[in-house]
Amino acid sequence: MNRKITIAIDGYSSTGKSTIAKQLAKELGYVYVDSGAMYRAMTLFAMKEKYVGENFLDRASLIHNLDKASLRFQFNEALGFAEMYLNNENVEREIRTLEVSNLVSKIAAISEVRKKLVAIQKEIGKNKGVVMDGRDIGTVVFKDAELKLFMTSSAETRAQRRFKELIEKGEKVTYEEVLENVVERDRVDTTRKDSPLLKADDAVEVDNSNLTKEAQFEMILKLAKEKLGNI
Ligand code: DC
Repeated sequence: MNRKITIAIDGYSSTGKSTIAKQLAKELGYVYVDSGAMYRAMTLFAMKEKYVGENFLDRASLIHNLDKASLRFQFNEALGFAEMYLNNENVEREIRTLEVSNLVSKIAAISEVRKKLVAIQKEIGKNKGVVMDGRDIGTVVFKDAELKLFMTSSAETRAQRRFKELIEKGEKVTYEEVLENVVERDRVDTTRKDSPLLKADDAVEVDNSNLTKEAQFEMILKLAKEKLGNI
């Protein structure tokens, strides 16, 4: 099995895309890329520069200054995955706050932002051997990915998961706030003009509302191995 494939994982927020992506990358010795982290880092950049806030978006200034945001991933041996750096600062923690989550869809709807990030994503994946998760990986970034997954589960299940994660990180949020964010992000992500979240025709849909992590991994690893056997 020397030849490598590309694995594209798309789906709604908090459907466990990154969990399965990390598991697959580890098992196959592939690189895991969290494309959502890039949109979050761009959002943090826009927040810091005061281009975006709860009630405003200065689209023109953000687009004009896109080159000032330099993004890169750096592998963290201890954690076993790559962390996000914005202008050489580790922003892994900052980009996961509810504040960023509440603004990211606005930034991710801007075509110029998407163009910049998609170009970086294509470059990272050009030699295959990557597992990338996001919203448009199977439909835009790697249309020719050998394995495409589309993850779903109910909004309530997802909000519960996200709420637990945020509380464990010490954030002060309520379940209702988190559910509202999940539902609103679904709405914006699926209705935006540029690269809306949708299932690619050749993607396998995985609803994991009632699947254990182990059962899900076993099923998806089998799919990946089938693809590897066929190339
Ligand atoms: O996967 P995530 O929740 O960390 O992603 C954050 C946001 O970024 C999500 O609400 C939509 C956007 N996103 C996107 O538009 N395209 C991607 N490929 C990945 C994320």
